[in-house]
Amino acid sequence: MCGICGVIGHRPATPLVFEALRRLEYRGYDSAGIATLDNAKHITRCRAAGKLDNLENALKETPLEGSIAIGHTRWATHGLPTTNNAHPHQVGKVAIVHNGIIENFASLKKELESLGRHFTTETDSEVIAHLLDLYLREENDPQKAAFRTLKRLEGAYALAMIFEDYDNLLIGARHGAPLAIGYGEGEMFLGSDSLALAPLSCQITYLEDGDWCVLTREAVQIFDFDGQKVERPIQTASFSSGSIGKDGYKHFMEKELHEHPVAIGQTLQRIIDPVTRRITLPSPPFDPASLPRITITACGSAYYAGLVGRYWLESIAKLPVESDVASELRYRDVPQPNQGMALLISQSGETADTLGVLRSLKAQNQHIVSILNVEHSTMGRESDVVLGMVAGPEISVASTKAFTAQLSVIAALTITLARLRGTIDDKREAELTSHLLDLPSKVVDVLSHIDSIKSMARVISQARDVLFLGRGSCMPIAQEGALKLKEITYIHAEAYPAGELKHGPISLIDQTVPVVAIAPSNILFDKMISNLQEAKARGGRILAFTDEAGASRLEAIADEMVILPTVDAFVAPILYAVPVQYLAYEVALLKGTDVDQPRNLAKSVTVE
Ligand code: G6P
Repeated sequence: MCGICGVIGHRPATPLVFEALRRLEYRGYDSAGIATLDNAKHITRCRAAGKLDNLENALKETPLEGSIAIGHTRWATHGLPTTNNAHPHQVGKVAIVHNGIIENFASLKKELESLGRHFTTETDSEVIAHLLDLYLREENDPQKAAFRTLKRLEGAYALAMIFEDYDNLLIGARHGAPLAIGYGEGEMFLGSDSLALAPLSCQITYLEDGDWCVLTREAVQIFDFDGQKVERPIQTASFSSGSIGKDGYKHFMEKELHEHPVAIGQTLQRIIDPVTRRITLPSPPFDPASLPRITITACGSAYYAGLVGRYWLESIAKLPVESDVASELRYRDVPQPNQGMALLISQSGETADTLGVLRSLKAQNQHIVSILNVEHSTMGRESDVVLGMVAGPEISVASTKAFTAQLSVIAALTITLARLRGTIDDKREAELTSHLLDLPSKVVDVLSHIDSIKSMARVISQARDVLFLGRGSCMPIAQEGALKLKEITYIHAEAYPAGELKHGPISLIDQTVPVVAIAPSNILFDKMISNLQEAKARGGRILAFTDEAGASRLEAIADEMVILPTVDAFVAPILYAVPVQYLAYEVALLKGTDVDQPRNLAKSVTVE
């Protein structure tokens, strides 16, 4: 989703902003642009539809000089992803970049048009530039103009603004979309996240909702929504400037798939005591024994991790669980139990719908526990307890290693709650923990035998529709497999509980619709075999992920098999997630699609 950055310093700002935009690419975008204040104190802009390479070429034609600049990667919401709709937007003597959606833009536009103002783009963001220009003319003071503009905006925004004739000023603001300040020596920076700022500064302040800031080369002032000066802490960012290379892999997704074992291992290492081998999570601010219910919510892959968690928490910790995707839960009127727990799962900690649910459940007195990769994110700051995963930066739009790291944390949480609620004894706890600890080496094993995945990928790459089947705690892995395939290969895929096959999707099955089964030999394996027989009997081609024992039973039915190490049923969803994601990657290679930045998708979805 859109990324913004800003630089005010003493060196040419365009290359710095361009590098920051490269580091924001992972969020997903379809056009980009930069504006600078040149040495004559005039604003000049360069924008381009498509990828940053197009902007780079445009910059060769129109070099931008100056040591103050703002930049933007745009993920279109209002208006096509054309050069004309690309940010920065300039009106009169101001230029702005915006991440978010201005919900009252239509009424503002009408009002501004009635004042004789002429709009040149189809974006919601252009109203911000017009308001700023209007108030600057009235106030003759950029700070006052910015304050008045912010007061008029409804919706979500992270903003950076520059002003002609003011050669020591950069203004930023946030409301519902993230924005960070980076501190340098005689230079200051703005960025949507610390990753964008990584090569520029590791001293970071995360603005809070409603904050806006005035940056000069020498100083930073932060104000709240009422215009009162406020102090916000300066933190040291943990992402290093070197941490987002591809390390010799063809794509970030390939690299991140190979980082599954490290992500799982480091995540577990952080929460498992090396001596007692017991899981130690932060103490919850409630009594787990009397917890009435857990509500799990998230978006995308993180939601499927939560669904696996539902199976675990119900069967192992004996906890009632409510779950739904955040965009639905947010507008459902679910009665919440007194002192219940909400479990939110998010790689970025900035996803608008998940954040919306966090706030509404908090208002309903639910204890907020978040599982996050970016712990200093907005969700991190607003949660009662943060359970961090240690997946490292995830750049590929399609989530991979963050998913297994999320599952590892949820598994550890399940064991902890089960212990505290007395639903498992010490022996069972030790068994479950050791199954988790065995995982990284088993995943290494999976990643070093990918030939059968490649072979399965060849079959899938020919298909137009694919059906993924799962049962029990591996059902969400079928959903993850279907999502990943859709996301990066554009092949239509659907996931179904295998037992539901005969209630509808079986009518789709013929030679052209491969059926992918997530089939570890567990307690539901016999039922899965019957479901696959039903598909086979209708001419279906069966592709199965299974283990040695499963393979001997599936031999007669399956056209292709990926045989995985045998693991306990508890951790099977984590292990099986890896080859299922890898399958999508291999199909994408065969189809030649844009693996890391699939069309229309964004990494961090900061609008509803
Ligand atoms: C987007 C990404 C997905 C991700 C989802 C949730 O759709 O493309 O990969 O799973 O957002 O993101 P979060 O940061 O909340 O985990």
